[in-house]
Amino acid sequence: MKNLYVLNDGFEMPKIGFGTYNEEFKDNKEAILQAIDCGYRFFDTASLYETERSLGNAIKESGISRSEVIIETKLWIDEMGEKNAKAALERSLNRLQTDYIDIYMIHWPRQTGAENENWKELDIETWKAMEGFVHDGRVGRLGLSNFLPHHLKNILENCTILPVADQLELHPGHSQEAAVQYCKKNDILPMAWSPLGRGRENVFAGNEMLRFLADKYGKSVQQISLRFLIQKEILPIPKASTRKHMEANLDVFDFELSEDEVSMITCMPQTAWMGEHPDIHIPTRKSNPDNV
Ligand SMILES: NC(=O)c1ccc[n+]([C@@H]2O[C@H](COP(=O)([O-])OP(=O)(O)OC[C@H]3O[C@@H](n4cnc5c(N)ncnc54)[C@H](OP(=O)(O)O)[C@@H]3O)[C@@H](O)[C@H]2O)c1
Repeated sequence: MKNLYVLNDGFEMPKIGFGTYNEEFKDNKEAILQAIDCGYRFFDTASLYETERSLGNAIKESGISRSEVIIETKLWIDEMGEKNAKAALERSLNRLQTDYIDIYMIHWPRQTGAENENWKELDIETWKAMEGFVHDGRVGRLGLSNFLPHHLKNILENCTILPVADQLELHPGHSQEAAVQYCKKNDILPMAWSPLGRGRENVFAGNEMLRFLADKYGKSVQQISLRFLIQKEILPIPKASTRKHMEANLDVFDFELSEDEVSMITCMPQTAWMGEHPDIHIPTRKSNPDNV
């Protein structure tokens, strides 16, 4: 297995990234500095998380050059539309203390719930503005987040720059096969958010099949989850605030699940969904974006 993913524009990515959502990283660069020290080079943040500034601070203090790290961030729903997107990019660049973002995403496909029919126009207007950021060199490439096939189709039918990736909640028990397959058919890399189910309810640890595989390979259930995603050619972005977890999450390249085992996990009963349907559940931002 190659150690890198190649995006549809030829850009190479490590097979695991580092998630920075969120409390542990707000106003705190230390955990991100540790992640850099452990070897992570691809960092996921978002305007919503309020961790862009910590990431920028950590990269500066680490002494590694900007070109050695891949920064992915996202504009939030209150930053959609041409004018807002321009202001959002300025704010993100400022907080990250950089003059370019490697991957810039629309965080959520809809500003309001399913009763609002105008989301398609707003997504396109936002995407067109973001294409401008690629043309002026402040953004390397564009991606999407929480876009299901019907949202992706709207972008694909109207874009001049293809999205390179779509970030979705993906983990054992929440495989979203329809969305993953749609991405693959269109050469869009699926990325997995909450690849460890955000550690909720001991969901994975209590799962008999995942425990069996963990024992078989001498790994933790979390490592089985990451390995499963990688073998499905999905890029997981686990978050960890302890060094032990940071290291464990990179230690998933010395074993291989069989095809049958990947299929078993893919087909396991649905569990541990965060409950945030992109068309129905629209999270709210707590802070004013100008003040974070
Ligand atoms: N696009 C979106 O809408 C969206 C939504 C949510 C998240 N995300 C992105 O996805 C990233 C990851 O998702 P997430 O933060 O929700 O959760 P996650 O990565 O699924 O889970 C994080 C939890 O797992 C624990 N953990 C990490 N490594 C572990 C290991 N090896 N063994 C046992 N426990 C381990 C962490 O503990 P410690 O902290 O104690 O180490 C933490 O409690 C986020 O940080 C964010 O960048 C994107």
